[in-house]
Amino acid sequence: MRFKLKKEFFGGILHDTKRKKNIAIDSNELLLLNIINPENKNFNEDIDALTSEFKNSKDILLTLRELSDFGLIQPDVDYDLNRSKGNYLSAPFRLFYDITYLCNLRCRHCFTNSGKYNQDELSLEEKLKLVDDMKELGIPRVSIAGGEPFACRDLYDFVKKCNENDIGVSVSTNGTLFNTQTIDKINHLDIKTLTISFDGGTKESMDKIRGEGTYEKVVKNLYNLKKRYKGNYCVKTTLMKSNITCLENVIQTAIECGCSSVKFNTVREDGRATLNKDLIILTQQEYINTMKILENLKQKYAGKIKVKNPLNVFSKECYNYIEQLGFGCFAGKESICVDALGNVRPCSHFPKEFICGNIKNESLYDIWHKSEILAQFRNFKGNDHCNNCSKYSKCRGGCRYRAFLDGNIDGVDSYCYEFKNSVLA
Ligand SMILES: C[S@@+](CC[C@H](N)C(=O)[O-])C[C@H]1O[C@@H](n2cnc3c(N)ncnc32)[C@H](O)[C@@H]1O
Ligand code: SF4
Ligand code: SF4
Repeated sequence: MRFKLKKEFFGGILHDTKRKKNIAIDSNELLLLNIINPENKNFNEDIDALTSEFKNSKDILLTLRELSDFGLIQPDVDYDLNRSKGNYLSAPFRLFYDITYLCNLRCRHCFTNSGKYNQDELSLEEKLKLVDDMKELGIPRVSIAGGEPFACRDLYDFVKKCNENDIGVSVSTNGTLFNTQTIDKINHLDIKTLTISFDGGTKESMDKIRGEGTYEKVVKNLYNLKKRYKGNYCVKTTLMKSNITCLENVIQTAIECGCSSVKFNTVREDGRATLNKDLIILTQQEYINTMKILENLKQKYAGKIKVKNPLNVFSKECYNYIEQLGFGCFAGKESICVDALGNVRPCSHFPKEFICGNIKNESLYDIWHKSEILAQFRNFKGNDHCNNCSKYSKCRGGCRYRAFLDGNIDGVDSYCYEFKNSVLA
């Protein structure tokens, strides 16, 4: 089936498997789709409910149903109408999984402090149980990071099991551990996106953060991917003091190396980044200038490569979000994170007080539905500035982790452009 329909508290989510898009629909649209659902035995009640909403529509609704009974309308939809449990999504759209802390690099900004393997990491059996848990809860997609996924010997078995269970996989890698065999091996897996971290458009900017020789290795491997890899790959740059002056080089290299897109993300003050702040963390002014530069680059390279920028108020597009899910970003509402030890958090930047449970001794299903921490993330009230701001749909209130670091998880993001202007006015 092309579409998967899940009933949710505000109506439903129609997942378009072809365009890989989630479409939020309201309760009337859900009823209408359900009238033509061949399995629906209660269509008369649904027709009555819709007729009370839309006067004089009963005849047309009965006709629609008849057309469906004759097989003239055949919805390409897999109906799943019994999962919703409260005022939140029945399952996150995406799970972020740090598969290991083992890493061959020691990047100076690394928020997971990766390097050494931790003895308490999930065993292969527990990793595979995580796939069962995702299936049980109904999570359609997992993004694997770490540590370095390609340093983890269980990566292939984990991805294979996700593929067998129809769970879409993306992998984020430092791109240094590829050789011909690795590429041939991943050619046999279904990886929706392979993201290669590229934290600087020049040798100097990248090696300063990721270590001597990294830039050359990664560029060489990007060309190897271009030659041998059959799947989709892109580069991702974490914006830092060290690289904000060479962002156009990143885009040009990505085009030359056959990448489908370039993603930019803002660095967070977390892990090793807190030890190297002067080299890494952007000031508010640097952040604002960088967002403006990136929006211009996005226009300049439109048609040549897709440039994906962080949510920001200078963007031409509005973010397509589900208003009913409440204030703030997707953490704990549309996504969830599992670390290498099995701890579950709304967002991996938050410290251990925000652990909602561990999948070694609890199912993801129970954690998603019972965690009070997740309930807190789904019930943020926001603040006067964001709640009355016309730019909300561009930035969704900014980063909750930055607000938390500033002492108020519901407060204004310290990088907010509008707030700075209103305070200075
Ligand atoms: C932690 S790494 C793990 C996967 C792989 N080893 C890699 O480097 O891509 C995942 C992504 O997080 C980014 N990252 C690391 N430290 C960060 C920080 N302090 N704030 C934001 N992103 C960070 C990396 O640049 C990388 O793109
Ligand atoms: S950012 Fe990635 S490559 Fe760098 S130390 Fe962390 S896990 Fe390793
Ligand atoms: S006040 Fe700032 S952070 Fe809040 S919605 Fe407006 S632009 Fe975004």
